[in-house]
Amino acid sequence: MNTAKRKTVIAGNWKMNKTPSQTAEFIKQLVPAAADAACEVVVAVPFVCLPAAVQAVKGSAIKVAAQNVHFEDQGAYTGEVSADMLLDLGVEYVIIGHSERRQYFAETDQTVNKKVLKALQKGLRPIICVGESLEQREAGVTEEFVAMQTKEALLGVPAADIDKVIIAYEPIWAIGTGRTATADQADEVNGLIRRTVAGLYGEAAAEAMTVQYGGSMNAKNAAELLGKDNVDGGLIGGASLKADDFRVIIEAARQ
Ligand code: PGA
Repeated sequence: MNTAKRKTVIAGNWKMNKTPSQTAEFIKQLVPAAADAACEVVVAVPFVCLPAAVQAVKGSAIKVAAQNVHFEDQGAYTGEVSADMLLDLGVEYVIIGHSERRQYFAETDQTVNKKVLKALQKGLRPIICVGESLEQREAGVTEEFVAMQTKEALLGVPAADIDKVIIAYEPIWAIGTGRTATADQADEVNGLIRRTVAGLYGEAAAEAMTVQYGGSMNAKNAAELLGKDNVDGGLIGGASLKADDFRVIIEAARQ
């Protein structure tokens, strides 16, 4: 982290976990930790848990994120949710392009880009996920691939909006596997993402951007990962479902 230059954001990605009735109780356990946190705390909850989450964070420092959004304003898109619907509830952030959505739900660089543009146009802050597979890492194409994903996701994003964007580097081989990228690996790719953003939007915009790491970040390894200059927070799956662990990660951002 480089807290002089940019905001640290610790975001829990609940994925398809917890029910609406479990949501308020769980968030209540995070409120004190978030109150004196040195970072922004975000919970990305399932769509049906959003109303309960927005209610539960009222008056606290915690922000709420959705885990997806559609790129059209409205219409015949059964099962989809629009940016206006999220904003109407009081949602501020949205995860876009998580590797699970790319892998299981046919999300492509093109749909990710359309969703990023729509989110920004409407005033939602996108947390854009990028990251290579194990095959790509072993083939030595990580940098090329992640730079390309970053560029495709940001295509057409106006310079005036770039300060609303967060990018999360999530190597697919580290997600839910217990196999974390080393702090140096995370720092290296996060740095590459920052250089890619610098190439598109200039040094100042890149230096100010929050670039998170995600992939088996937990209570034990968070401090080391967050200790790296280019790691400005975390997108945390499994460990965000346990209040004790998530609180330790929030605390690890105070360094
Ligand atoms: P994990 O998930 O922390 O369970 O590896 C991270 C993510 O997918 O965002």
